[in-house]
Amino acid sequence: MKRLDKLLALNCNLSRKEARQLIKDGKVSVNGRTVLRAEELINTEEDSIDVKGTNFTIKDHIYIMMNKPRGVISATSDSRKETVIDRVPDVLRRRSLFPCGRLDRDTTGLLIITDDGEMAHKIMSPAHHVYKTYIACLENELSGENIAKLEEGITLGDGTVCLPAKVRAFTNSDDIPCAEISIREGKYHQVKRMFAALGNKVTDLQRIAIGSLSLDEKLPEGGCRELLPEEIEMLFTDKQ
Ligand code: URA
Repeated sequence: MKRLDKLLALNCNLSRKEARQLIKDGKVSVNGRTVLRAEELINTEEDSIDVKGTNFTIKDHIYIMMNKPRGVISATSDSRKETVIDRVPDVLRRRSLFPCGRLDRDTTGLLIITDDGEMAHKIMSPAHHVYKTYIACLENELSGENIAKLEEGITLGDGTVCLPAKVRAFTNSDDIPCAEISIREGKYHQVKRMFAALGNKVTDLQRIAIGSLSLDEKLPEGGCRELLPEEIEMLFTDKQ
């Protein structure tokens, strides 16, 4: 059971004060009956809420897939630079959204934005073994020997030892040497530093999957959409 004003604030991107005003103005009904008390307790499993005549689905949390564009920072707010949260459309906006892990400013691709701290921790913590898969375009072709080093767990320039990665080398349609690399940690600039430790350089980086959930190819750069319930599950299962 949750208070009506709290639920409205969470789900409709309103302050508690704005939510209370909406209720006071008689704009909110529960199971067809106008409710004027902000503290009315709502059964989030069963009750049906209408705001200004439109039914809305009660959700404890929201999970958004973004195709992060280049040039935008993975932060909740910044006084000068545009953040991924600035890019979330109003219909999906809630008060406490944050990006689940960080992609560098020049990295593109799959980013999950949510207001669910517990779930974000599960994705980010190496203990939960969630693989994040990237396509890295490289300056030099990757040798079999270097693939083996990444697969064993490479040591970065500062002595940090990485967990074993899954790696596949290929050449893209522009004839650029690339690697598909899956890691289950999120160290600072990790993929770039892993290739730097091999004397190579990442010239372009895109995240294409988290767990078995791939970036929706129909989502344009900068685009966002809500995840389906089955897609949330896929974040925690391995890619075959
Ligand atoms: N590794 C990097 O080097 N950069 C990212 O943005 C993500 C992983």
